[in-house]
Amino acid sequence: KQDTPESLVQSMEAELAKIKGATKELIVNNDQFKALFEQYLEERGSKIEWSKIKPPAEGAIIDYSSIDDTPACAESLSKLAVLKLNGGLGTTMGCVGPKSAIPVRNEATFLDLCVKQIEHLNSAHSVSVPLVLMNSFNTNSDTRKILRKYGKTKCDILTFNQSQYPRILKETLQPLPADTSNRSEWYPPGHGDLYRSLVSSGMLKKLLDMGKEWLFVSNIDNLGAVVDTTILNYLVSENPECEFVMEVTDKTRADVKGGTLIDYEGTTRLLEVAQVPKSHLEEFKSVHKFRVFNTNNLWINLRAVDRLMRRGNMHMEIIENKKVLDDGRGVIQLEQAVGAAIKNFNNAIGINVPRSRFLPVKKTSDLLLVMSNLYRLHHGRLSMSPDRTFKNVPLVKLGDEHFKKVKEFLKRFEDIPDVLELDHLTVSGDVHFGKNVSLRGTVIIIANEGDRIDIPSGAILENKIVSGNLRI
Ligand code: UTP
Repeated sequence: KQDTPESLVQSMEAELAKIKGATKELIVNNDQFKALFEQYLEERGSKIEWSKIKPPAEGAIIDYSSIDDTPACAESLSKLAVLKLNGGLGTTMGCVGPKSAIPVRNEATFLDLCVKQIEHLNSAHSVSVPLVLMNSFNTNSDTRKILRKYGKTKCDILTFNQSQYPRILKETLQPLPADTSNRSEWYPPGHGDLYRSLVSSGMLKKLLDMGKEWLFVSNIDNLGAVVDTTILNYLVSENPECEFVMEVTDKTRADVKGGTLIDYEGTTRLLEVAQVPKSHLEEFKSVHKFRVFNTNNLWINLRAVDRLMRRGNMHMEIIENKKVLDDGRGVIQLEQAVGAAIKNFNNAIGINVPRSRFLPVKKTSDLLLVMSNLYRLHHGRLSMSPDRTFKNVPLVKLGDEHFKKVKEFLKRFEDIPDVLELDHLTVSGDVHFGKNVSLRGTVIIIANEGDRIDIPSGAILENKIVSGNLRI
């Protein structure tokens, strides 16, 4: 018989009831999951109409340089809480545990750097901006263990968990049989889950009770996402009507994946690559039509979140993330993006910020730069070295086979080369770097299958191609 949406929801509910009965520690909220599933059934198949997509309206994105640069003040800072999205694992870089626990600079992890930044902010302005971590069931217990070492800091660290939802079998649209010990049956439903989880964990109320009005949200792996008091002061004093800010930045040819802001039937919306029809992918990636992309640094008014959530007015498109399990079964994960909520807030805007506010570490090639002399570290904050003449970031490509995992990558560098004058580096194959190596201009090093290349200590490679036994 043909399944109707109603019958699917009914059997989904029956399955969920079984799951709840069978487990203790779950973070599943059945009603919320059911609502997400119903939304999915309702909206599945309804695609965005490409012809209705327009560039953001006049004034929808303002330039960072047009905002008055007023000094930080304790009054606005007292209304702020900083939230890091900490639900993700370090698997892409071959690490176990939360991504935030990967050491990125002088042994300091993403989390250490965040804490240092906020401690400094708090001491410098005699305020107590809290750091809030949204963990997932994948990261919670490790993160909490790590947090013990911050017993005595000038930074209150608060945590809450995002939802844990069952993956759905593609064929039947029913949740996988729930076995809590089997992680492959569960997933955290994307960072758009923030709003739901802020409410259901009680964290929203806690922050409002503390007098917090603004939440600065960012990816934990974006080292450029430091508290910007110019934006905060603008929101508190200059534009109090604005309830939501998305920091966007100019797109380059290297940024093909990031979501962008569009005008859709008169509303500013986030357009994610997953929503783009295949036939328009090239257009989406081009830097001409869509000139900026979402850094995922967001400033969110907490009272507005409270209002929207109470009224049930927080709509975000569902991204259907398809996966294949080890046993070959197809599953889907219903996810949402935190920035997709922009359309629900009053007077939401994009602010086009300098590129320095977007410094994500997704791959070991990013790590190479972050660890190098290209950046200086000051109170947990990285800034480009004034000794670099060109203010662009070098383009680095490291071969997946030998450099993808952090451990492998670190083994291949006795120390991190000098990259102050580097424009472009490509390394592929079994390549090892000695101490005090200097890379300048365009450097390409390719070791053929079965060969090993050792770059000797003290070598200066300037506009060089090194390949097998051929050295030019
Ligand atoms: P993503 O996985 O969405 O990263 O996580 P991305 O930059 O969009 O894409 P990739 O890495 O290239 O695939 C962005 C941030 O959101 C958190 C992650 O921990 C990271 O800080 N996150 C993601 C959550 O907290 N919960 C989720 O369910 C998903």
